[in-house]
Amino acid sequence: MAFPKNFLWGGAIAAHQAEGAYLEGGKGLATCDVIHGGKDRWAEISNPAAIRANIENPQGYFPEHTASDFYHHYKEDIALFAEMGFKTFRLSIAWARIFPNGDDAAPNEEGLAFYDSVFDECLKYGIEPLVTLSHWEMAINLTLKHNGWSSRELIPLFERYAKTVFARYKDKVKYWLTFNEINMTFHAPFLGSGVLIDQQQDHEALCFLACHNQLVASALAVKACHEMLPGAKIGSMAATMTAYPYSSRPEDTWEKMKLERKNYCLTDVQARGVYPAWLKKYLARKGIVLNITAEDEKILRENTVDFVSFSYYSTSAVSTDPAVAENKGSGNLFGGIKNPHLKSSEWGWQIDPLGLRITLNFLYDRYQKPLFIVENGLGAKDTLTPDGAINDDYRIEYLREHIKAVKQAIEKDGVEIWGYTTWGCLDIISASNGEISKRYGFIYVDKDDEGNGTLNRSRKKSFFWYKDIITSNGENL
Ligand code: BG6
Repeated sequence: MAFPKNFLWGGAIAAHQAEGAYLEGGKGLATCDVIHGGKDRWAEISNPAAIRANIENPQGYFPEHTASDFYHHYKEDIALFAEMGFKTFRLSIAWARIFPNGDDAAPNEEGLAFYDSVFDECLKYGIEPLVTLSHWEMAINLTLKHNGWSSRELIPLFERYAKTVFARYKDKVKYWLTFNEINMTFHAPFLGSGVLIDQQQDHEALCFLACHNQLVASALAVKACHEMLPGAKIGSMAATMTAYPYSSRPEDTWEKMKLERKNYCLTDVQARGVYPAWLKKYLARKGIVLNITAEDEKILRENTVDFVSFSYYSTSAVSTDPAVAENKGSGNLFGGIKNPHLKSSEWGWQIDPLGLRITLNFLYDRYQKPLFIVENGLGAKDTLTPDGAINDDYRIEYLREHIKAVKQAIEKDGVEIWGYTTWGCLDIISASNGEISKRYGFIYVDKDDEGNGTLNRSRKKSFFWYKDIITSNGENL
């Protein structure tokens, strides 16, 4: 048997994309609550004036306000996860449910009680919660007061939040992640870090600053977790971006290397405890001053993560040839050049199962730490047959090929992998376009992109397929 007996099969969601109930139970208004859905979402999150206008004068439909209403459906949803045989369920705690303004004197008891019930529900079925402390959401107050993670003021606030939830859930949660896709700040600073960057400001410098502050906060959370929950494990989380050199020209391979090492530089710090040498040189050359204190260096060095987790959806290609570089794809918010050897999803994300095996080997070689695939899946439009069935063979095909790649990495390459959670096991709001019609789930949620629908849940064909995969521990692929 390739997959270890205790392999953690499951699925993943994030609070803001699933919960809804955006001001219920004492939750504060959060960064994710002031972004519209649709084709202009990406432009909106990159435009501080648009975000400020949405805060001052909210108009129109904000998809995260109601999302899939997991807040009111969690018992039904977790029962369905249990029916599929989930061993783990990855979710995030909405920081703004616990500290509605981020800097409140005391935590919000109703928010804490909500997650108590969610975790109890999981444990009732023997499902291990895998909890992300911060998944692209924080009190909007922290943006307005401090411009998000660009300020060090957030470090003690986050540390207090982490200690609050560790103390509260110490007997319920054994697996933790600090920041979701920490490297996404480089591409979407407001989404990733609550930072608004005006045009005249140095975009790259502010992003690195926000990342440094998160790295220190992440290490302090690791420290607290190790001290307060000796039996628990805490990991990093990054978006992977495996890129192929478009040609055999050395320049293209150099381009690939530059892209990948910037992509993983934050995970390098989280896993190894020090900034990479090239990055120190790069920052100095660019005149970017992060004011890293001796105390910061000590915290980073002494509190590295127990495991490395990541999302994997697709790969891209790179080239320094301007004629080739024009041919952009649209993979996972990063772009990159279209690879002619790969097919794409309806959203232009290139499908590459072998790329997952390559990524697993690359990360294991690089860090020599256990890995956890915490996001993988296919966003696709689903159609209902007249009798209400959803025959999502395309999703099954995507997942099957990727799970085969995981199997080979374990069996043939000896990579240590703790688990696999598919993204959006329940249909949720897409992060990049804010639409629920980009569906990832095994469970269909009756809702459209304007917010209409009964919110009824139903099982797709992939639901039964994944159940069989888990029951056979990955043998019936
Ligand atoms: C990852 C994020 O980037 O990709 C998720 O961690 C996100 O929050 C997922 O939903 C898929 O992206 P999208 O844009 O299709 O929702």
